Amino acid sequence: MKKIIVVLSLVAFAGSAFAADVIEMKRGVKFNHKAHQANVSGGCKVCHEKGPGKIEGFGKDLAHGKACKACHVEMKKGPTSCKDCHKP
Ligand code: HEC
Ligand code: HEC
Ligand code: HEC
Repeated sequence: MKKIIVVLSLVAFAGSAFAADVIEMKRGVKFNHKAHQANVSGGCKVCHEKGPGKIEGFGKDLAHGKACKACHVEMKKGPTSCKDCHKP
């Protein structure tokens, strides 16, 4: 079952270059996956060290660190304050 879902989502991904692709996260965070792919150079690997898909251990600590905020700080682009990521 899991395999089928993975295959289907890869097909959907490949076939929908212009589809909205926003991932809803906890506490009102809307992660625009598609916009990030365009805004970040270096490709998928920048965020998906182990290949595309769920990120192992993703949650608050990673989000407030290297998975999200650290990059915004480093690039001086993207939100770094609570309310700019967490929108009720
Ligand atoms: C700026 C960081 C970033 C980039 C760049 C990025 N992703 Fe993601 N991606 C994420 C995050 C964060 C998640 C959600 C992970 C989780 O919930 O565990 C995710 C989830 C996914 C998923 C899981 C499906 C879903 O919608 O939840 C797939 C598949 C995926 N990404 C593929 C890709 C591919 C292919 C690329 C390159 C074309 C890419 N990603 C580039 C951050 C990124
Ligand atoms: C590798 C760098 C990088 C990572 C990792 C990253 N971002 Fe961003 N983020 C950016 C850049 C670049 C922008 C674009 C800012 C601009 O164009 O003004 C941005 C913009 C945003 C914005 C505002 C614009 C929008 O797309 O809605 C939000 C919200 C955001 N990021 C949330 C997140 C979250 C949540 C994560 C982690 C799941 C994350 N980002 C991970 C680089 C990154
Ligand atoms: C760069 C975007 C970003 C910034 C800035 C940010 N957060 Fe988060 N935060 C996230 C993401 C993404 C998650 C994890 C969401 C998930 O696991 O789905 C998260 C998770 C959390 C959680 C845990 C929610 C839960 O139910 O597990 C709390 C609490 C939280 N943040 C509070 C804050 C506070 C307070 C600040 C400011 C000091 C802040 N965040 C700044 C993106 C951000």
